[in-house]
Amino acid sequence: MINYKDLGLVNTREMFKKAVDGGYAIPAFNFNNMEQLQAIIMAAAETKSPVILQVSKGARQYANQTLLRYMAEGAVEYAKELGWEKPQIVLHLDHGDSFETCKSCIDMGFSSVMIDGSHLPYEENVALTKKVVEYAHQFDVTVEGELGVLAGVEDEVSAEESHYTKPEEVVDFVTKTGCDSLAISIGTSHGAFKFTPEQCTLDPQSGRLVPPPLAFDVLAAIEEQLPGFPIVLHGSSSVPQDEVDTINKYGGALKAAVGIPEEQLRKASQSAVCKINIDSDSRLAMTAAVREVFANKPAEFDPRKYLGPARDNMKKLYIHKIKEVLGSDNKA
Ligand code: G3H
Ligand code: 13P
Ligand code: ZN
Repeated sequence: MINYKDLGLVNTREMFKKAVDGGYAIPAFNFNNMEQLQAIIMAAAETKSPVILQVSKGARQYANQTLLRYMAEGAVEYAKELGWEKPQIVLHLDHGDSFETCKSCIDMGFSSVMIDGSHLPYEENVALTKKVVEYAHQFDVTVEGELGVLAGVEDEVSAEESHYTKPEEVVDFVTKTGCDSLAISIGTSHGAFKFTPEQCTLDPQSGRLVPPPLAFDVLAAIEEQLPGFPIVLHGSSSVPQDEVDTINKYGGALKAAVGIPEEQLRKASQSAVCKINIDSDSRLAMTAAVREVFANKPAEFDPRKYLGPARDNMKKLYIHKIKEVLGSDNKA
């Protein structure tokens, strides 16, 4: 049993309280490799932003859960080396799918876990989330639950349509489970293709697709039920069109990729939404930079020569999110 506190990590409790009170959101960035992790830590250290490092099931399969945990421990030391005296870094399991997965992450030093029972019948979601909370709280590990279903893929679970969170269920869920934060569904979804062209309108000036707005009325109704309770938004990539254009310019084929407009995420960050999950945007930033090097410097074969620019581009993206969208700079 390794306690995250011995690794210099923190849980989400204080962080979320300050974010809700201060009207900003904490970035939750997924990582799968060293370059992503370096870019996240450089961006957080430079902006003095608290940060949540997320490990998905896909990441655990790709990079190995143990290795990722040690990388996060290294990230705390790296942040200090960068001049961040007291790094506020959370190591979080993203979309935990069973009690066993959550337990295994808690036992090896994660400071926060998500148990995603959103696809289960309500009472089963309650029972599973409660079981994880009871285990996690013994070690002061915080737990994110989820109510409502996002469209798209949530690890193995995929849904054709989103089912918004029912505001009338949230008090019962939070009370019965004891979870520390709640992921909700208000129209976001995972991946780089969040809406079909049919769901969007066309901006005649730019020729770009404009997605439908998030259900802020549902968010307001949830906040009314749970005043001050930490709310989480998954599927919150904005799918920057300049990155999509770069990818397509240099041989990519991303058609009709569309995300959540930044002004909507800015608005959400000022509410009880205190954690915003971003993965796809980082993938786009990385791919755009790599494609550009491959196209312009075809004789290059030193991975540092294309992963370096990819890292720079991701760092720029993370700093932009922190300062211009979530407002979490200078909060750690
Ligand atoms: O929630 C989904 C995340 O973007 C993680 O995706 O399982 O492909 O790593 P992944
Ligand atoms: P995006 O695919 O919009 O980046 O969402 C990531 C996410 O929700 C991870 O849990
Ligand atoms: Zn998610």
